[in-house]
Amino acid sequence: MSVAEPAPDLVFRPGTAADLSTTFELSERAMHAAASRQGAVPPEAPLTDARIRADWLRQRSMIEFIAAQPDGRYLVCEGAEGPIGYARVVRFGAMEQLTELMVAPRHQGHGVGRALLERCWPGDPTPELGRVVVATGAPNDLTLYTEFGVMPVGGHWHMRAHAGVYLSRRSQETDAPVPAVHVLNPDHAVHEWCRLEPDAIAHDREVLHQFLARDRTCLAYTPPGRAEPAALCWVSREGEIGPAVAATAGDLVPVVMAALDRVAKSREPETLSVYVTTLSWWLIRRLRRLGFQVFWPSWVLCSIPLPGLDRYAPTRPPQVL
Ligand SMILES: CC(C)(COP(=O)(O)OP(=O)(O)OC[C@H]1O[C@@H](n2cnc3c(N)ncnc32)[C@H](O)[C@@H]1OP(=O)(O)O)[C@@H](O)C(=O)NCCC(=O)NCCS
Repeated sequence: MSVAEPAPDLVFRPGTAADLSTTFELSERAMHAAASRQGAVPPEAPLTDARIRADWLRQRSMIEFIAAQPDGRYLVCEGAEGPIGYARVVRFGAMEQLTELMVAPRHQGHGVGRALLERCWPGDPTPELGRVVVATGAPNDLTLYTEFGVMPVGGHWHMRAHAGVYLSRRSQETDAPVPAVHVLNPDHAVHEWCRLEPDAIAHDREVLHQFLARDRTCLAYTPPGRAEPAALCWVSREGEIGPAVAATAGDLVPVVMAALDRVAKSREPETLSVYVTTLSWWLIRRLRRLGFQVFWPSWVLCSIPLPGLDRYAPTRPPQVL
């Protein structure tokens, strides 16, 4: 098999804070091209500068937080016209996540993605340091990643519904009243995330939850007669839902429903979006009944099995699991 080699005049260098907005634009363009190829957006739909700017303003604080973590890697591949590809790895506890691997559409297929990954993830994962990535699910990224010590552990689906359809179907639900969900204060929320999450995703992310606690609200579901919450869900001011975690797969449903209700009523968006894993069957079943459809099916690939993806809903934006 012939192996594509990146052109010799390309430079691989560490990224800096000054590169963040440029590489974000690159990621938007690479993802838009991938979305067109997979049919998630019409091929002719333009990606406007205004859209990229709005997305940057919404995601900037998360990207800056990820880039600022110790023991991470941020590598840029530069050609004559500037950056044409980049990769970023962040470490939380005993896990390294590849948060982005992006190559500008017209430079894809020439070995740049592989060369970036070889530099970011050299050698094999170890028992002390695992690897995880959310892959868009195209043949090329799945083929590439499975050479770097990670294997598919579950689907990661972006599900969407028209808010009007959701609210109308929700108002007709008579058989399943939503149990009471309450808001946790930030310190309590971080404490509960540290209690429930590591068993579900096999790594510890206290610092991520301290970051989310600064501008998101943590909804919690505490079953009657219990002292501690059985489920948690972050909701941002902009209406982004997730991550969510629960003690059991069934407990995940009420807290995500409460988050959707809150966003649908307070922000009145045209569409509602949530990420689910394909192991969270109870949640998927409920979402399908409420008008949600699969918008973009992606994959979680990891170097170890993740024990509780049936009771976990991924983070939005999806840079981190
Ligand atoms: C995924 C991506 C980063 C790959 O970068 P790239 O520079 O095009 O990839 P490379 O040329 O280095 O090829 C890497 C490997 O992909 C695999 N590959 C490429 N085309 C393929 C195809 N049509 N079918 C199956 N596998 C394919 C091969 O294993 C190839 O390695 P090889 O040529 O040594 O055999 C790039 O396509 C991209 O930016 N996509 C959009 C964003 C995205 O999906 N990022 C990943 C999730 S964050």
